[in-house]
Amino acid sequence: MSSHSVRECLRHALADATQRLGAAGVPSPSTDARALLQAAAGTERPLVLLDALPEDFTVRCEELLARRAAREPLQLVLGSAPFRRLRLEIRPGVFIPRPETELALDLLSQHCEGECRSVVDLCAGSGALGAAVLDELPEAQVRAVEIDPAAADLAQRNLEAAGPGRGQVLTADIAAPPTQLLAAAPVDAVLANPPYIPAAAVPRDPEVLAHDPHRALFGGGEDGLEVPGAVIDLAARLLRPGGLLIMEHADVQGAATRELATAHGGFTAVRTAQDLTGRDRFLLARRAEIESTSEDERLNL
Ligand SMILES: C[S@@+](CC[C@H](N)C(=O)[O-])C[C@H]1O[C@@H](n2cnc3c(N)ncnc32)[C@H](O)[C@@H]1O
Repeated sequence: MSSHSVRECLRHALADATQRLGAAGVPSPSTDARALLQAAAGTERPLVLLDALPEDFTVRCEELLARRAAREPLQLVLGSAPFRRLRLEIRPGVFIPRPETELALDLLSQHCEGECRSVVDLCAGSGALGAAVLDELPEAQVRAVEIDPAAADLAQRNLEAAGPGRGQVLTADIAAPPTQLLAAAPVDAVLANPPYIPAAAVPRDPEVLAHDPHRALFGGGEDGLEVPGAVIDLAARLLRPGGLLIMEHADVQGAATRELATAHGGFTAVRTAQDLTGRDRFLLARRAEIESTSEDERLNL
C-alpha cells in the first residue's frame, strides 16, 4: 500500500469508527476512535505520521471497535491507562484509575513538609497512586494495601515497573491492618482513593456499572464513609507527627470527611482541596504531635 492509500484507509476507518462509537453513546467518540486505530496499527504515533499498516489492521480494528461500542472501558480494551507520566497495566475486575485522582500527587508535592521518603497507598487498586509516587519521587519507598488479591497482584506489577525494588503491596483489609504495615510507621505521607460512593447512589455510566468492581465503588454505610473513616483511623496510626494524609472523596463529602478527621482528634490543619473545576475532592490533614505511645499501643496489641 502506498503512503497515500494508507492515509485514505485511515481517514475512512477513523470516520467510520467515530460514527459507530458516537451511535453507541460513547462520550468521546473521536478521541477513542483514534486510540483504537493506533492500537490496531500497533503504534502510539499520531495516525497522520503512519505510512504503513500491519496486515491484520482491519480485523484488529473491528475487534477493538466492537468491544468499545459495547461500552467496555477504553482502558480495558487497550489493556493500559495513562496516569501522570506512567502507562499503567489494567486488568478486568480491577478499578480503572481516573484522571481526577492524579491531583493527589500535586497536593503531595505542594503540602508534604520535610522529607517524603516513606509513603503508604491505602486501597491501592491497580497501584496508580503508589506507582506515581515511585516514579516522581526517586528516593521514596511505597507500601500499598489492597483487599482484593487480583488487584494487589496487579498493583505489585505496576509498582515494580515504576520503581523496581521500592514498592511492596500487602493484601489486607485496611480495617484490620497487618503488623507488617504497622511496623513500617512512622511514615511521611498516606495517600488514599478509597471507595466512597453512598449506598443509594447508582453510577450511570455503563462502563462503570458493568466493569468497576462493586467493592471499589461503594464506601459502606448509607453515606459511603465507612472505608474512608477506616483510612483516617489507620493514617493516624501510620503517620509521623506533621505527616500528611491526602484522601480523595466525592464532591459532597468535604464537610463530612473534615468532621471525621477532626473528631478523630489525631490531626491538625484539616482542610479540603478542590479539583480543577472547583469541586471539593480531597481531604488534607496533618498528623498532630503524638503523645508518648508505647510500641504495643501503636501496634494495638
Ligand atoms: C476507588 S478504588 C481506587 C483504586 C486506586 N487507589 C485508584 O485510585 O485507582 C478503591 C480500591 O479499594 C479497595 N478496597 C475496598 N475496601 C477495602 C478495604 N477495606 N481494605 C483495602 N482495600 C479496599 C478496592 O478493592 C479498590 O481496589
